[in-house]
Amino acid sequence: MSTETALKFTNVNAGYGDTQILNTLSFSVAKGERLAVIGRNGAGKTTLLNTIMGLTDMHAGSIELNAEAIETLPAHQRSARGLGLVPQTRDIFASLTVEENLLAGSKGRADISEAFALFPRLKERRNNKGAQLSGGEQQMLSVVRTLMGKPDFVMLDEPFEGLAPVICDQLMAVFKELADGKNTIILVEQHTEMALAFSDRLLILDNGEIAFHGATGEVRDNSEILDRYIGLGVA
Ligand SMILES: Nc1ncnc2c1ncn2[C@@H]1O[C@H](COP(=O)(O)OP(=O)(O)OP(=O)(O)O)[C@@H](O)[C@H]1O
Ligand SMILES: [Mg+2]
Repeated sequence: MSTETALKFTNVNAGYGDTQILNTLSFSVAKGERLAVIGRNGAGKTTLLNTIMGLTDMHAGSIELNAEAIETLPAHQRSARGLGLVPQTRDIFASLTVEENLLAGSKGRADISEAFALFPRLKERRNNKGAQLSGGEQQMLSVVRTLMGKPDFVMLDEPFEGLAPVICDQLMAVFKELADGKNTIILVEQHTEMALAFSDRLLILDNGEIAFHGATGEVRDNSEILDRYIGLGVA
């Protein structure tokens, strides 16, 4: 991990319309860092990723990406600067085939073979429509659609939700490869053990506020923190 800052939140208040969900959030993410975000249902995890991406209403504060203020930029300009979000609601077109879904997110065919190399299963299913794919295949497609934009800062919103362990392992292998390739990654995760295993830093959100932000190792040995904010310790 580098000591350079990739993302910096300063006193950010944000939400939907006038409703404020995130309260005075200040934290930084270093370049190449693997940050896991955990917290109960409704804690504001998705809202945090949406705010980084420019999909919420910001009421106060500033957001810097690579030392540039981005809080007034629309989402497409943030993705042009290297941010990529794999949303919690798998972002694919149900009525388009796998290949069409990939083309809709790319500028050329070369990228499609990269996508198939990452998840060979998608190649076998290339002529099936999005709606005909299994949950795991839909998630693979959603992940590669985001990766085809070549983001160097990738945000993953509960990518393992509802998927079989074997599919989770395949996805995790791809995420680890991305992290080893020097990408900065934020993983929002309900499975605390997955979050702890993947990350080097951890941010716990509770009711729109930061309850803990620090080295993952500190929490691994401190089940009290997890009991308090998540309600279940690590087995
Ligand atoms: N589009 C929206 N408009 C208004 N309120 C919203 C919207 N989306 C989420 N909220 C509210 O914001 C709060 C935080 O929701 P958010 O989706 O960020 O939680 P989360 O931590 O991602 O939860 P989960 O683990 O269930 O995905 C909740 O109270 C939710 O009802
Ligand atoms: Mg969520």
